[in-house]
This record gives sequence, structure tokens and C-alpha cells, in this order.
Amino acid sequence: MPFPILVKESLIPGRTSKLVLAAPEIAKKARPGNFVMLRISKPGERFPLTIADTDPDAGTVTIIYLVVGKSTALLESLEAGMEILDVAGPLGRDAPIEKIGPITCVGGGTGIAAMHHLAKGYAKAGNPVTAVIGAQRADLLLMEKELLVFCEKVLITTQDGSRGMKGIVTDALIEELKNNPKEVVAVGPVPMMEAVAAITKPLGIKTIVSLNPIMLDGVGMCGACRVTVGGKVRFACVEGPEFDGHLVDFPELKKRLAAYKPDEKLSMDLFTEAQKAGKCGCGQASHGH
Ligand code: FES
Repeated sequence: MPFPILVKESLIPGRTSKLVLAAPEIAKKARPGNFVMLRISKPGERFPLTIADTDPDAGTVTIIYLVVGKSTALLESLEAGMEILDVAGPLGRDAPIEKIGPITCVGGGTGIAAMHHLAKGYAKAGNPVTAVIGAQRADLLLMEKELLVFCEKVLITTQDGSRGMKGIVTDALIEELKNNPKEVVAVGPVPMMEAVAAITKPLGIKTIVSLNPIMLDGVGMCGACRVTVGGKVRFACVEGPEFDGHLVDFPELKKRLAAYKPDEKLSMDLFTEAQKAGKCGCGQASHGH
């Protein structure tokens, strides 16, 4: 069943966009930590995107994505009024959110979108939430306004110093840890989550990370999303994507994520060539070619 795109908003032109989809069943069931698998065209791959927000009353699901390869480039070619062929979900385990006290949620890059849904869940459960978000420059920061709706504080870092503290999210996190949060949640690039976990581990502060391994089926059958946590193999799609950051084998995760980079690049190069030749390659009749 196709899923209509109600709103498309370019957050960082050509790089990151937000889509609001009409998906009433998913909106009703989705909990923080869940994700969806999208397929844009019949011959296309299925790929996971974390849910950034839901509105069960309006029957909508919001996703935010970074254009990193062919599938997200195809997604970026769609506009409001068009449809996504398949959206499967909600998938993944619900994040184990309880009322425990002050929480610090750290987000980097498009990981801020997934962090937003988790942070909202913690705030809804009655926890005071501080968000720490970072980007290279002020114009690349995401979701500050949305986080301010329910967070006690939103701390900002930029690498060039154009907004907030000059530096990276871990610089602001180190300062914030002086306020003794009960738990830290980190979502973003793997090196960022690894660095957050390395800071909080000696302090004994529970740290949850949301992992983004390669996924194929998203329902625990293919094994593509396997990660090692506490010395045990876990499937992120059904047992995660949230795990104890102090137990994750980050070097292995980085190695597995890099394994398909040459194929992804080839696929993107072929897609770019097809686009230059005037074809989008998505196979959707609504594109008009
Ligand atoms: Fe196939 Fe998780 S994506 S087992």
C-alpha cells in the first residue's frame, strides 16, 4: 500500500530533508526507539529510517534523512503529493523508558532526529531532559526548536563556533555531566556514540546508544544487522536498535558499516549518470518518465 507524502521540508538543502507521511496505523503503534523500512521503487532496496516523530491523532509519521546513497537520493527526488511505495513498521524494540530522573540526550548530525523521538519519550515519562546537539556549523543544526518544546535545556555545539559552544558534543556533555544525570542517551555517527560511551563508562553513568547497522529485512531473518554487545551476537532490528553503550563492540560495527562502501559508491555513480541522462531510475509513473 503506497504512503502519501503530506509535507516535504528541506532542512539542509540537497543534504537533509524532513517528510511527513500519512501512515495512521504506524503512527498509532510507534514508540520511541522504533524505525521503519522504506522501499521507493519495486526493484529498489529496502532501507531503515528511524522515526523522528509521530502524531497519532493526525495519523502521521515524520522521518528525517541524510542523502548518503542511491536510495536516499531517490527518496530526496520525491515531493509532497507523491507516494512512497512501501513503509513497513513500526519495527524494532520499544526503548526501555522509565521515570528515573534527569536524562541527558546527545545527538549528532541526522542522529538528532532519532534522538528527538527518544528524548520526547523520556520527557513524557516525567524525566527532566537536557539535549546536547552539535553540527559543523550553525546552519547544519537540526531540531533545536522541536527539542525546546519539552527539554529543560538545549545545549548547542558547533565546530566553527558559529552557534553555542565551539567544539563537539562531547565537550558540552563533559560540562553537563557535572549535573549528575541518571542516564545518557546518544544517537549519531558511530565515533560520536563510541566517544560518549567512553566518557560515561568510568563515571558509571548508564548510557544507551541507538545503533545503525546495515539492515536488509528488518525482522530478524537475514542476520545483516548483527552487532556484538557484551560479547554476544545481537540483531539490532529485533533486539535493538538501542543497546547499552558500555557493552557495544564499536570497532566491529565500524568495520561492518564500511564493508559495502565500494558497492554503495558504484550504485550512487550509476544513479547519478542515469539522472544526467534524464532518467531518475525510480520507476514511479508519477515522476512522469
Ligand atoms: Fe535482517 Fe536484522 S535486518 S536480521
